[in-house]
Amino acid sequence: MPTTLFVNACMRGAQSRTLELCREYLAAKQDVVEVDLSALRLVPFDGAAAGHRYDLQKAGRWDDPVFDLAKQFSSADEIVVGAPYWDLSFPAALKTYIEHVSVCDITFHYTEQGQAEGICKAQTLTYITSCGGFVEGANFGYEYMCGIASMFGIPETRFVAAEGLDVVGMNVEDQMNKARSIIAKLNGR
Ligand SMILES: Cc1cc2nc3c(=O)[nH]c(=O)nc-3n(C[C@H](O)[C@H](O)[C@H](O)COP(=O)(O)O)c2cc1C
Repeated sequence: MPTTLFVNACMRGAQSRTLELCREYLAAKQDVVEVDLSALRLVPFDGAAAGHRYDLQKAGRWDDPVFDLAKQFSSADEIVVGAPYWDLSFPAALKTYIEHVSVCDITFHYTEQGQAEGICKAQTLTYITSCGGFVEGANFGYEYMCGIASMFGIPETRFVAAEGLDVVGMNVEDQMNKARSIIAKLNGR
């Protein structure tokens, strides 16, 4: 059965409208594994931690828990990222997660010609967000994740957003419904 990895960067938990959309998208999936970034509280890599991880890589110590998130990401059949639009991109917890999964010889590797090549199994990365305003011209979080998908060898990225949710006078339910209709199309309904 295909596994879907849900990377949950919806920092407001049950109050999050992004999370509401993610749950609707995921309801059509069978085998969903969730990584809850607000619960996980990952720490960004500093020089010493990055150096230690590199030493483990060189020594072939792939059983070390520092590689667990990367292995989980690399072996999933589909990736779903849920992240609110914060400061023109996404919460820092998602960037920290990417630091943890971006590991040479797990999510990507170098060919004999020295080219980086993605080695993840997933064929799609679906990015779901919601925004106080509108992302047009400043969709930096999604664009960054498209770069990461390309680096990791994931050929297709898809974008869902509910926009304008904090605009005074906006019909929030209408905006959420527009995103729901995109979700329904992605799920083939
Ligand atoms: C820390 C923070 C930063 C935000 N930055 C932006 C922003 O740059 N642009 C914008 O349109 N909305 C911004 N917002 C509003 C959120 O994008 C909006 O409320 C979104 O729907 C929150 O998603 P959630 O309900 O899933 O938490 C920000 C909200 C917070 C809390």
